[in-house]
Amino acid sequence: MATKAAFADSSSRRFIVSSLVFILFLCAIASINEVRFAAVRNIKCAFTGNPASEISPALLLQPASNSSSDDDDDLRILIGIMTLPDQYMRRNFLRLVYGTQSVTNARIDIKFVFCNLTKEEQRVWVVLEIMKYDDIIILNCTENMNRGKTYTYFSSLPEMFNDSDRPYPPYHYVMKGDDDIYFRLENLAESLKPLPREDLYYGFVIPCNSMDPFKHYMAGMGFAVSWDIVRWVRDSDIPRSHLVGPEDKVFGDWMKMGRRGRNRHNAKWSMYNFPEPPNLQCTHEFWPETVAVHLLKNERRWIKTLQYFNATSNLRPSKLYHVS
Ligand SMILES: *[C@@H]1O[C@H](CO)[C@@H](O)[C@H](O)[C@H]1NC(C)=O
Ligand SMILES: *[C@@H]1O[C@H](CO)[C@@H](O)[C@H](O)[C@H]1NC(C)=O
Ligand SMILES: *[C@@H]1O[C@H](CO)[C@@H](O)[C@H](O)[C@H]1NC(C)=O
Ligand SMILES: *[C@@H]1O[C@H](CO)[C@@H](O)[C@H](O)[C@H]1NC(C)=O
Ligand SMILES: *[C@@H]1O[C@H](CO)[C@@H](O)[C@H](O)[C@H]1NC(C)=O
Repeated sequence: MATKAAFADSSSRRFIVSSLVFILFLCAIASINEVRFAAVRNIKCAFTGNPASEISPALLLQPASNSSSDDDDDLRILIGIMTLPDQYMRRNFLRLVYGTQSVTNARIDIKFVFCNLTKEEQRVWVVLEIMKYDDIIILNCTENMNRGKTYTYFSSLPEMFNDSDRPYPPYHYVMKGDDDIYFRLENLAESLKPLPREDLYYGFVIPCNSMDPFKHYMAGMGFAVSWDIVRWVRDSDIPRSHLVGPEDKVFGDWMKMGRRGRNRHNAKWSMYNFPEPPNLQCTHEFWPETVAVHLLKNERRWIKTLQYFNATSNLRPSKLYHVS
């Protein structure tokens, strides 16, 4: 009995020690990978989730002297893509399309935005997506068109990004975009960079033939406002009491009623609808100065667009594949 117990004792001790060694080994591997991953992330493209909430190992590797000012001067942009919980394929596709673009001297976070989950399977798939990508915002609302989702989006942001360890403002500009628009992130950042960071209302002026950004409103395909306007939407009574109607027109009405958006930028024709068919409205030919192409309703349109903008041209050569 005694020897058996002693034997069990020493073998379990041996087991514990070797487990500990193994765990240390795993930790070492994990931390090496984390550093490598962080270096990749540091190209500052989107899909890094909640950046300020974690200390990036890459940051720690930088010289301590100047690391505190690291991101403060870079332009920070949030793009909220309005979509529905069930649009899994669309989200994964957009992650691919944006995850392969790189942006210099700006940080662009892309988040998918929808209202409350309603189905059991959403509470599995969407939660797994969040665990993997952390690029989803779930608003406190019921899915709706023209009943205030845009309001809920903008007015929820100040509280969502109200962490003391973030720079202020958390984003200089906040964009709202459709899920059938293709943003060219570098061009978007370049076009916003020279503009005022206060009281700015940026987008594609409606109607199509108008070039006056002070009349009417910016199209829902994708418009941006500066952070002070986001806060105003949250704090003012004007948006709160004018919720019903076509969301983007209603947003323009708030700007008018509240005398906001004294700085406006008409992004026409750097933003436009897909050029075909010719009877489509608000279209433009593809051209290099493009910030965004809208109405990418089917795969063919996406393919044409991605081809024109050379989305696949940076493929690294390798012995592992051939694509032509
Ligand atoms: C920090 O960076 C600034 C400009 O980026 C430079 O002028 C300054 O010398 C740097 N300070 C130190 C301590 O390296
Ligand atoms: C969500 O909104 C409802 C009213 O629409 C409110 O009663 C509830 O407290 C809100 N929940 C959260 C978590 O903010
Ligand atoms: C959305 O979900 C939250 C949390 O489950 C709940 O408090 C809220 O009432 C829901 N809002 C609506 C508009 O259904
Ligand atoms: C942000 O947080 C601070 C301190 O926690 C609080 O005083 C302030 O009211 C909050 N602002 C918003 C918009 O939630
Ligand atoms: C795509 O690549 C071709 C060939 O290198 C080049 O001529 C063209 O200007 C590029 N198009 C854009 C939009 O950058």
